[in-house]
Formats: sequence, C-alpha cells, structure tokens
Amino acid sequence: MPLISPSILTGNFLSLGKDIEMLNSSSCDWIHLDIMDGNYVPNLTFGFPVIQQIKSIAKKPLDVHLMIVEPDRYLERFRDSGADILTVHYEACLHLNRTVNAIRDLGMKPAVSLNPHTPVSVLDEILPELYMVLLMTVNPGFGAQKFIDSSYDKIRKLKRMITENNLNTLIEIDGGVSLENIKSLNHAGVDVFVIGNTIFAADEPVKMIERLGEEISDK
Ligand code: DX5
Ligand code: ZN
Repeated sequence: MPLISPSILTGNFLSLGKDIEMLNSSSCDWIHLDIMDGNYVPNLTFGFPVIQQIKSIAKKPLDVHLMIVEPDRYLERFRDSGADILTVHYEACLHLNRTVNAIRDLGMKPAVSLNPHTPVSVLDEILPELYMVLLMTVNPGFGAQKFIDSSYDKIRKLKRMITENNLNTLIEIDGGVSLENIKSLNHAGVDVFVIGNTIFAADEPVKMIERLGEEISDK
C-alpha cells in the first residue's frame, strides 16, 4: 500500500493493446476500467468484448468501475469477462447488501462507490461487507476534470469510520489526482489511487507512474 490503478479512459483506444502492455511493464498495481452506460452517467464507454480482450493480455488485476444502472443484471458477465475487483455505485443499487454478497459469491472483490454529494454515513450498515470503498473526487462520467477539494474531509471521515470499526476496508479515490495532490491525499488516508489524465497525458507514462509512486511512500 498504497496502490496505483491507472484509468485507461483518457488513453488512446486505437492502440489499446499497446497501452495495456505499457501498464504491464510499469510499476502500477491494478488497471482501472470505466464502464459507462449513457444512463447512470452522460457518457458511453465499452463492454464485455473489450474487457475480455484486455484480460487476455493484462498482467495486473482488473479494477472494474461500473457507472451503470441496475448492475445486478450483469454481475456474472463481468466475472466471466475478467473483473477481479467489481465496484458498483451506491446510488444505482436498490438492494446493495444482496448485490455486494452476489459479487463476493461470484469470486470477485466487492466495492461500493459514492458520488461527491453522497455522504459516507450511508455506508454504516454495509461497510463490514466491503473490500473497498471508491470515493468519487469528481462527478463521474469524464476524465481530466478538476479535483473537488471538499473530498479531503470526506476521506478523513471514512478513514475514521473504518478505524473505529476495526475494519481493513480499502479507500480508493477517483478523479483529478495529480503529482501536486497525491501525497496529501495519501496522508488523508487514501489506499488506492485511480489516475487517468495525469498518466496518459504525460510524455512518458511509465516514468510518470514511477514518480507518482515515489510521492506516496517508500514504494
Ligand atoms: C470518471 C472515471 C475516472 C476517470 C479518472 O468518471 O471514473 O476513472 O477516468 O480520470 P482523471 O484521473 O483524468 O480524472
Ligand atoms: Zn473510474
């Protein structure tokens, strides 16, 4: 810990294979895949065929972030496509306890994501069931957005909830992470960093991943 999970959303989809090989050769820990349905968020990305092909060459766990409504319909298909960690949005699940347990029963690590406006207190009951909580630090749907500064307090609140309940739940954040804010976010309690534009807009993404790693501990 802490871990780096590059998001390929702002990568070059015309050379997706090369991007995955680049991540395989880098010091990153996971690969973050953003699945958008044009309904839960105002954007569309990709689905099962692309995930399967990524899985066929990826040497790192797939950290699959579902920005879709009614995710229960597709849990098994995400497992079959190669998801290792599966994140559903709190705001998209009517029966979250059932969904989280179904994800675990399918052999994936269950995580729940909160939009910036959703308070961490909604996780009171479900927290002990979770492998990880993903706090959105931008409004979901697009890469390369500005970090929402009020997220620091939210991260600290969640960290306190986890510590006070003697849990090992990981805290992942997503959106607007950069070389400038990664260290202070690590100190606030973040365990896993999703990073898109900072890596894929860099001249040398592999070097950028290394530098980000150096900023956040004795990595
Ligand atoms: C946004 C996605 C993020 C996004 C992060 O809805 O969930 O994963 O790609 O990208 P950056 O780091 O560019 O904000
Ligand atoms: Zn994401």
